[in-house]
Amino acid sequence: MFSLVPAVLYCVLSAFVTLPAASQTNGTSPLDPSFYKDVNVTRGFVYHYYSSPPEAGKPVLLFLHGFPSSSYDWRNQIGFFQDQGYGLIVPDMLGYGGTAKPVDPHLYASSLITGDMVDLLDAEDVDEAIVIGHDWGAKVVARLANYFPERFSAFGFLSVGYFSPSILEISYAELNNITKQAIGYEIYGYWDFFSTNGTDQIIEDNLDSFFDITFTANKVLWITDFAPQGGLQAWLESNSTTAAGDFITPEDRAISIDTMRSEGMRAALCWYEVMTSTIESDDNQGIPQENLTIKKPVFLGAALEDYVAIAALEINSIIQASENATTIQQYDSGHWVMLEAKDQVNSDLLAWIESL
Ligand SMILES: *[C@@H]1O[C@H](CO)[C@@H](O)[C@H](O)[C@H]1NC(C)=O
Ligand SMILES: *[C@@H]1O[C@H](CO)[C@@H](O)[C@H](O)[C@H]1NC(C)=O
Ligand SMILES: *[C@@H]1O[C@H](CO)[C@@H](O)[C@H](O)[C@H]1NC(C)=O
Ligand SMILES: *[C@@H]1O[C@H](CO)[C@@H](O)[C@H](O)[C@H]1NC(C)=O
Ligand SMILES: *[C@@H]1O[C@H](CO)[C@@H](O)[C@H](O)[C@H]1NC(C)=O
Ligand SMILES: *[C@@H]1O[C@H](CO)[C@@H](O)[C@H](O)[C@H]1NC(C)=O
Ligand SMILES: *[C@@H]1O[C@H](CO)[C@@H](O)[C@H](O)[C@H]1NC(C)=O
Repeated sequence: MFSLVPAVLYCVLSAFVTLPAASQTNGTSPLDPSFYKDVNVTRGFVYHYYSSPPEAGKPVLLFLHGFPSSSYDWRNQIGFFQDQGYGLIVPDMLGYGGTAKPVDPHLYASSLITGDMVDLLDAEDVDEAIVIGHDWGAKVVARLANYFPERFSAFGFLSVGYFSPSILEISYAELNNITKQAIGYEIYGYWDFFSTNGTDQIIEDNLDSFFDITFTANKVLWITDFAPQGGLQAWLESNSTTAAGDFITPEDRAISIDTMRSEGMRAALCWYEVMTSTIESDDNQGIPQENLTIKKPVFLGAALEDYVAIAALEINSIIQASENATTIQQYDSGHWVMLEAKDQVNSDLLAWIESL
């Protein structure tokens, strides 16, 4: 293989590790544990990830989940693409599941997280992959396009489009004012709560309430009780409940809540603290102007009923950032498109990948 990054020191800790049975999740995904590996990346964090090699001639897909999840978010994609012969690398991101959980938000800067992703590719001897991300995983896709474009042949975004560094050129307080004026509520108002000391404990004390609103069937609740400033805190402190969408099985719910309970929320919330502090905006200064646009094929799966990642804004972000060859699909779905619109998302992603 050719290597465009300096050789990394990694060690495959447990390629054939035996993990507990599916019911004992304690931070490990219930997907077939024999496919999981652990790698200590260059900066000394162990990543837990699902790994399956490609059939000859097929590319490798790197799937990146967001908050508050784990590789289990991709449960409907893993089997589908594995059966089609694609290689898979599906990590628990930093702060989640079986991966390391440092609590210093500086360690979650995009330039560092993207370096970890490239270490995973190197550990798997993959020169070039196709990356697909959802939620904060989509922000990592954008930064991979900025920092390591040569390691990817195409970039896929689900729900969240291209998170432009320019969004952070204004303060978080101004961003709230602008979105309130434009949309009617602060679409990122909850970031503040997620960046406040003690929020991890409030969530952990009200995990069912938190799970309900995060995966709610009644998506417009996000307009009042999730997104705007003060909304989510009031929801949790009153331990409110609502039905989750039918794309969540009782087993999914139990597994996800178990994982959050056993792993805790503190590290995962660092993904927000980088945004409300200057950590991410300072870090973005390292992106050269000419690396801001994506010069490879791009896919966006926009969610028409996502009241945080507003489809029209996400579509616009992708059109602004991608130079050419942009595929945009829209789903009558809330934020969790790869769960709620799984069959359509799988077939659209497959068609896109086959067209590359
Ligand atoms: C999960 O729990 C089991 C038994 O309770 C234990 O043997 C195992 O080491 C734990 N795994 C992790 C990754 O903490
Ligand atoms: C990972 O590597 C770092 C040094 O880079 C080391 O301090 C740490 O102990 C390693 N972790 C494991 C689990 O081997
Ligand atoms: C910018 O992109 C080029 C490839 O076009 C890449 O080689 C370079 O490392 C990137 N620069 C930075 C600072 O990431
Ligand atoms: C945001 O709007 C409020 C109320 O209109 C105003 O008091 C405040 O100064 C604004 N903040 C910023 C940073 O623009
Ligand atoms: C949050 O808690 C940490 C210690 O856990 C402390 O160092 C820090 O100053 C606190 N931050 C705020 C804003 O209170
Ligand atoms: C919130 O309600 C759940 C039941 O839905 C209950 O198990 C939990 O203890 C309650 N939490 C608090 C902090 O009262
Ligand atoms: C984008 O356009 C440039 C110049 O027209 C071309 O060289 C490149 O192959 C195109 N990229 C894609 C992904 O179509």
